[in-house]
Amino acid sequence: MTKSTTVLCPVCDLVLVLTDDPRRSLSCPGGHCFDAAKQGYFNFLTGRGTNFIEDTGPMVIAREEFQNRGHYAPLAKALCAAIEGHHPENKLDVLDAGAGTGYYLGEMIASISETEAEVDALALDISRYAMRRAAKLPHTLAMVWDVWRRLPSADQSRDVVLNCFAPHNPQEFHRVLRANGICLVVTAADDHLQEIREPLGMLGIAENKEASLIEKFRSAGLQHQQTENLTYAMDLQTSDLFNLAFMGPAGHHLSPEVLRAKAESLGTQRVNASFGVHMFVRLG
Ligand SMILES: C[S@@+](CC[C@H](N)C(=O)[O-])C[C@H]1O[C@@H](n2cnc3c(N)ncnc32)[C@H](O)[C@@H]1O
Ligand SMILES: [Zn+2]
Repeated sequence: MTKSTTVLCPVCDLVLVLTDDPRRSLSCPGGHCFDAAKQGYFNFLTGRGTNFIEDTGPMVIAREEFQNRGHYAPLAKALCAAIEGHHPENKLDVLDAGAGTGYYLGEMIASISETEAEVDALALDISRYAMRRAAKLPHTLAMVWDVWRRLPSADQSRDVVLNCFAPHNPQEFHRVLRANGICLVVTAADDHLQEIREPLGMLGIAENKEASLIEKFRSAGLQHQQTENLTYAMDLQTSDLFNLAFMGPAGHHLSPEVLRAKAESLGTQRVNASFGVHMFVRLG
């Protein structure tokens, strides 16, 4: 069975066709063909070399465990609410740039599916381990890709671009969005996890100042519509504290043993979650 897509060939930029039988593959009229890995994702970065350090398998497991405990469910809910009334009724094309395990994308797909609209999603992330997880989501193509490069999605092919705690590429987000399409960017606020950042070695989380973010997107043609500041308290156990630290940048430079010891020395904690949910619209 073949299905046309709006995904672009990373070699020649022509539109790819998905073949699901007997093996999952994407091929373009230029003769380039990409087979899915056995875990279902596509690796478009093969053989090209990249300077980025991907999140490791254990870091991705920590992220998944933390998210499955529901601590960020209020954020997922806010994202689902933000797209209500902003999308066509019958079909929604979503791109998640820096999707990680696909937690927020999965919640969004579930919420759109409840309205009986069709969903078509593209999850992009530089981590193979993250894309193994995202490949399990329904209606989703998961692709290892660097979001700083040209995105493998046709011009004006998306209604929603999701970008949570991941690198921004506003020029490309603008290119792939349809007129009136929305881009939802989530950033950590300055007071996010303020009680535990220093003791857990999680410095440097909040790096996106709102004004410069808005200006960056405005100059790419994406107009700021609103920012929702979402703040609430989370009661975290030692295992949550460990996962939280290990799933982020600290997981790249501190060993799990060191982070576990730091988490144990803190015990159970009430911790502030604080996010900015920024909505941008492509007007023309
Ligand atoms: C903090 S995680 C957020 C993941 C997911 N959006 C979430 O909120 O659960 C940042 C993600 O960005 C990915 N990432 C970092 N640099 C990237 C790049 N240049 N291109 C694509 N993904 C990237 C990482 O692999 C990681 O999965
Ligand atoms: Zn091609």
